[in-house]
Amino acid sequence: MSAAQPVIVMQGIVKRYSIGKPNELEILHGIDLQVEPGEFVAIVGESGSGKSTMMNILGALDRPTEGHYKLNGVDIQTAGDKELANIRNRQIGFVFQTFNLIGRMSALKNVELPMLYAGMTARERSQRAAELLDLVGMSERKKHQPNELSGGQKQRVAIARAMANDPSLILADEPTGALDTATSRVVMDLFHKLHEEQHKTIVLITHNPELAEETQRVITLRDGQIVNVRKGAGVHGRA
Ligand SMILES: Nc1ncnc2c1ncn2[C@@H]1O[C@H](COP(=O)(O)OP(=O)(O)O)[C@@H](O)[C@H]1O
Ligand SMILES: [Mg+2]
Repeated sequence: MSAAQPVIVMQGIVKRYSIGKPNELEILHGIDLQVEPGEFVAIVGESGSGKSTMMNILGALDRPTEGHYKLNGVDIQTAGDKELANIRNRQIGFVFQTFNLIGRMSALKNVELPMLYAGMTARERSQRAAELLDLVGMSERKKHQPNELSGGQKQRVAIARAMANDPSLILADEPTGALDTATSRVVMDLFHKLHEEQHKTIVLITHNPELAEETQRVITLRDGQIVNVRKGAGVHGRA
């Protein structure tokens, strides 16, 4: 047996929009990226540099125009839509700037949703959702609906939901983008906890250079290309 296979292998990823039309636009110009199991990586870059486009491809929400992408050894390029939906549900936990929780549904039910799609029984779902809300410090608000929660609390619920099916990869696109500094700290500490205690592989897209510095590797995108890769300090304020 060789060493564990990488979680992410991207080779020559190109993304074009409006292909064949006069407004055809190439957004990603050939991205190469490899992420190993248990790594915590940050992607930084100015607004419009292609971070979310890259994240959508990493998350199998969108397909590249050219290039190869393997997630846990599975060729995303050739996988069918149903297989991709299954991969998104089982292997990836998504966290977005805008939380994307379902309104009129309790925190507990929101966290249960990916487990429902995965076919888990009601009893297993509610038990695991309660454990995950405990993990993110939200047990006392598990009956609350999103509109009864602060931004930081919503994001903690969203992180619990991302963990629902014990994914191998957590993808977070500007998860602290809508939060104040103190609340960002709480959210960032949660990512460190998932990384250190649950050994999750995490790709964090952020505008915040200080938060990026806390990860193990900082990748800078500019105009759809990786222009810099360096080690992060890897230190953080987590108690
Ligand atoms: N569906 C789309 N059609 C055309 N252009 C798009 C589409 N989505 C994003 N873009 C363009 O791609 C570029 C990169 O966008 P994005 O990946 O959202 O950047 P970032 O997340 O770094 O701010 C921007 O110029 C944006 O306008
Ligand atoms: Mg973006």
